Amino acid sequence: MTHPTGYSGAQIALHWIVALLVAGQYIFKDSIASAWDAIRQGTDYAFDPLIPAHVAGGGLILVFILWRLALRLTHGAPPPPENEPAPLKVLSHVAHWAFYVVLAIMSVSGALAWFADLTIAAQVHNIFKVVLLALVALHVLAIPFHRIVLKNNVMVRMLRPAR
Ligand code: HEM
Ligand code: HEM
Repeated sequence: MTHPTGYSGAQIALHWIVALLVAGQYIFKDSIASAWDAIRQGTDYAFDPLIPAHVAGGGLILVFILWRLALRLTHGAPPPPENEPAPLKVLSHVAHWAFYVVLAIMSVSGALAWFADLTIAAQVHNIFKVVLLALVALHVLAIPFHRIVLKNNVMVRMLRPAR
């Protein structure tokens, strides 16, 4: 794997598109959750555009993370900042890869629940929604930690593409 000096424009654009789509999946989750409850109870539910939007949003997330993964494997990712303590280098590396795995689990489990009517898949979806939230919280808290404690500006790496 190569070590470029920074993320490419495409990697940065995909990062923020995925972040927005993931936020949308949580903010607008109520419609699909109520539809799912109705299906489980064998009752009808009214059409709500937010239901197909959740399905499409999850599908797009899967496509975009596979695309990002391809870029990660071809373009690579910049090495961690110099002054990052070794255990934190390992933690951020694991957290970054965990995002790809957890997002894929969310998309696939959601699809299996919805299209194959699998209750167990919905349970997996509900467990990993918490894991994903915890990852996002850790990831976002890492930004002020880098800025204030390590005094490096890692945020810029995800805003300005490397030339
Ligand atoms: C990364 C992608 C996804 C994220 C972050 C996500 C997130 C969520 C969240 C937060 C809920 C609410 C659970 C609750 O508290 O009731 C939910 C429910 C649900 N999602 Fe997703 N979702 C994703 C992809 C998908 C996909 C692709 C599908 C279907 C094709 C899907 C189908 C469902 C279903 C059926 C429910 C209702 C399950 C239940 O309430 O037990 N999701 N999703
Ligand atoms: C659900 C939302 C998010 C996901 C799934 C996500 C995922 C990731 C992943 C996988 C990486 C590693 C880069 C790669 O391998 O492609 C990364 C890097 C980064 N993310 Fe996020 N992220 C999310 C939200 C955010 C938010 C809200 C912020 C800022 C407030 C942020 C700031 C950053 C920064 C600054 C980096 C670069 C870290 C470095 O250079 O080592 N991310 N993100």
